[in-house]
Amino acid sequence: MKLHLNVEYLLSRSLTGDGVQRVKKFIAEETKEILIKGVPKDKISESPKILDLKISDDAISVAIESGTYARSHAVAIRLKNSLSMLLGKEFKIGIKKIVGQKYTLTLDLEKIPKDPIKIPFVDSISIEGNNAILILRDLDEEFLTKNHVDRIISLFYDKVEAQFWGGKGEHWELISKSKEITPLTTKDPTTELLALGWLKQGPSQGQWFYHAPIATLLRTMERIAVEEILKPLGFIEVIAPKLVPFEIWEKTGHLSGSEPEIYYVSPPVSRDISVWEEVIDLYKITKKAHVDKIRERMRDPIGGMTYAQCPPMYWAFDGKTIDDSEFPILIYDKSGPSYRWEAGGRQGIERVNEFWRIEPVFIGYPDQLIELKEKMMERYAYVFDKIFEIEWRTAWVTPFYMAQSGQTGVEKETERIKGTIDYESWIPSRGSRDKSEWLEFQNLSIVGDKYTKAFSIKSSKNKELWSGCSGIGLQRWTVSFLAQKGLDSDKWPKEFKKYLGEFPRQIKFV
Ligand code: SER
Ligand code: ZN
Repeated sequence: MKLHLNVEYLLSRSLTGDGVQRVKKFIAEETKEILIKGVPKDKISESPKILDLKISDDAISVAIESGTYARSHAVAIRLKNSLSMLLGKEFKIGIKKIVGQKYTLTLDLEKIPKDPIKIPFVDSISIEGNNAILILRDLDEEFLTKNHVDRIISLFYDKVEAQFWGGKGEHWELISKSKEITPLTTKDPTTELLALGWLKQGPSQGQWFYHAPIATLLRTMERIAVEEILKPLGFIEVIAPKLVPFEIWEKTGHLSGSEPEIYYVSPPVSRDISVWEEVIDLYKITKKAHVDKIRERMRDPIGGMTYAQCPPMYWAFDGKTIDDSEFPILIYDKSGPSYRWEAGGRQGIERVNEFWRIEPVFIGYPDQLIELKEKMMERYAYVFDKIFEIEWRTAWVTPFYMAQSGQTGVEKETERIKGTIDYESWIPSRGSRDKSEWLEFQNLSIVGDKYTKAFSIKSSKNKELWSGCSGIGLQRWTVSFLAQKGLDSDKWPKEFKKYLGEFPRQIKFV
């Protein structure tokens, strides 16, 4: 790696002859420390160098070249600080501004990218032999200070790598299987429910209207989750906001990959009726929503609808130091739907854009969370084996926090502690248990310290804090159950019927 930076320091006033000599001496003889700081002892030969110095009336320009250690942009900032001190003290001159005029990054390539790569802030990318040459221009102090260049270098290598991984899918590895259960039906639940008139598709993409019988089933699922899993383990209910501002997703990492699936939200520019008069009148006359006129009166999006419930729950503890007696913190939210813009057509109530989940979140010491995860898995197994009596399995998959920030693969650890376990059910209408695609109906994750760090959540004794969460999909629990147990409630397991209570009558349509 070779990083060549032409940087200019603009001065508050002209440098005198003495000043010019002083700066020359400083650059030639007094910058050793600045140049080797951070370079490992055995790599001193790769220390950055100042290749060129030009002093004009009111500017000092230098060319800095570095390898990977003590990178040129960091050296440029160190140099600014030292020059400021020197010029201020000896000549009462300040540095007004620093400009990275041209930054040429020469990056070694192990693989030559097959397709052109584009990166924001990078003017041009060319390939010369085994090197990629990235050129950036006109960089300000903030850009040079704030790791932007380092992130551009990582992003470039990620993009090269991605061209070779191609469509490498997410990780999947079987962990456990329940016992085999003979299904009571092989029919597709959504088709059956539509035929009965219990469901209505729409009004928007990936949305359903759940008539009373299905609403009752969804609420039954919710009661089972709360009574059989969450309450016995000590979880308490919170109500989290369902409109999530970008600031929260900036911290969770959702903004490095979930963007194509977010439902963005924009408030009106004004709530003054006069601003909206034209739109209102247009509706009154045409009885149509004039979207083009509405768009003109919308602010920029402030965020989006809930994508997963946990980010606002972490935000609730942002910057807090929590008394150690509180751990593990066990909370859950079931107060509203989540939204994801899914690709492709509608696929029944198991694949929807608007879905209901219960999400427990847990924060505590690593050993507390490892123990809790075992207990949650026992409770889940009890529900699926003894209440639903369904056939299900678990798999070790790409953790949701990696998938949702645009990554594939799996946590490296061999102990299989941090990461996501998916729960999947056999859907007999899709085919045999061995050949068909099973339905992912919930997950359970230990996140490690990713979110506790991102939100600066601390223990009063300053112990290491981890977190985790579990997404319990109510539609997906319902489909898992109905796909194997059918719609004849007389045949449903006794334990399930205890929770169901009275099954409501459906309104008859003629
Ligand atoms: N946050 C987890 C997920 O999105 C659980 O809801 O999958
Ligand atoms: Zn979560």
